[in-house]
Amino acid sequence: MGQEREDEGVAPAVMLDGVRWCDVLLSLLTEPVDRGLLAANPALRGVANCAVGFNNIDVAGATSLGIPVSNTPDVLTDTTADLTWALLLAAARRIPEAQEYMKAGRYKLWGPNLMLGADVSPGGSGRRKVLGVIGFGRIGAAVARRAMGFDMDVLAYDPSARERIASSGIARWADLDDLLERSDFVTLHPLLTKETHHLIGERALRRMKPTAILVNVSRGPVVDEAALVRALRERWIAGAALDVFEREPAMAEGLAECGNAVLVPHIASASEDTRNKMATMAAENALAHLAGSRAPNVVNPEVYESEAYRTRIARIAGGR
Ligand code: DGY
Repeated sequence: MGQEREDEGVAPAVMLDGVRWCDVLLSLLTEPVDRGLLAANPALRGVANCAVGFNNIDVAGATSLGIPVSNTPDVLTDTTADLTWALLLAAARRIPEAQEYMKAGRYKLWGPNLMLGADVSPGGSGRRKVLGVIGFGRIGAAVARRAMGFDMDVLAYDPSARERIASSGIARWADLDDLLERSDFVTLHPLLTKETHHLIGERALRRMKPTAILVNVSRGPVVDEAALVRALRERWIAGAALDVFEREPAMAEGLAECGNAVLVPHIASASEDTRNKMATMAAENALAHLAGSRAPNVVNPEVYESEAYRTRIARIAGGR
């Protein structure tokens, strides 16, 4: 479809026009795929999202219309967990600030108080730091596993994974408030749902330690970004590291000016190997949708049993 510039995305009108002649829609996470768009083509055979997250797609709407939706899980788990740690360490040890300082030629004399940051390992205090993981799916668990290398204690909160947390051997269950109050670092990995929208707002931020650092590599709207800007300015918390933004690619007013925020443009899964594999998986899913076979990574498998799906396939086969 007509995306002319890499920094522009496909306009909704172009999407709507284009979807009418598509057999399968291969979408990116920046492209809203709502019911209206899906309903515009009664012969659409499936949607293959090139991302593990699929909050850009109205999956319930797709299911009711008989349209399978697929994503690209697993392949990006390690890459995303690595970036989470890169951000966490960058914020804790003030790497972007230190680099700016160097590049501006401001480093004239080493001093014992130059660019003091926070330990992630027990470090000078000998105290084991606490990592709070919110959302204990594949990525949250991979982030927790890496914390073992830093001798951290890990608390996890995820209402849908209580059992998994208890039996993980790497994290202990904590209620949300408890986790926020006890963690030195809080990292966000939930799906974006009605329940997790603004999960981290003023109330949550005020519960965190003033020395704590917040990391978000999930979806921007999980954090109330305006509240976060106030928290960073007024030092309710020490810092934040964000890969995702509430109104991506825009940032909340004042965020860019916060010296205690590390900001990167949604690159959590952006390694060459992983992005290539994601593209391959999305293509394989798309081919399965096209062939009318079960997509390897379907997110609404119940669709295949539905009357709406059978009707759609029959309509397509009949050329109507
Ligand atoms: C995804 O796949 O959902 C990620 O956000 C991409 O980095």
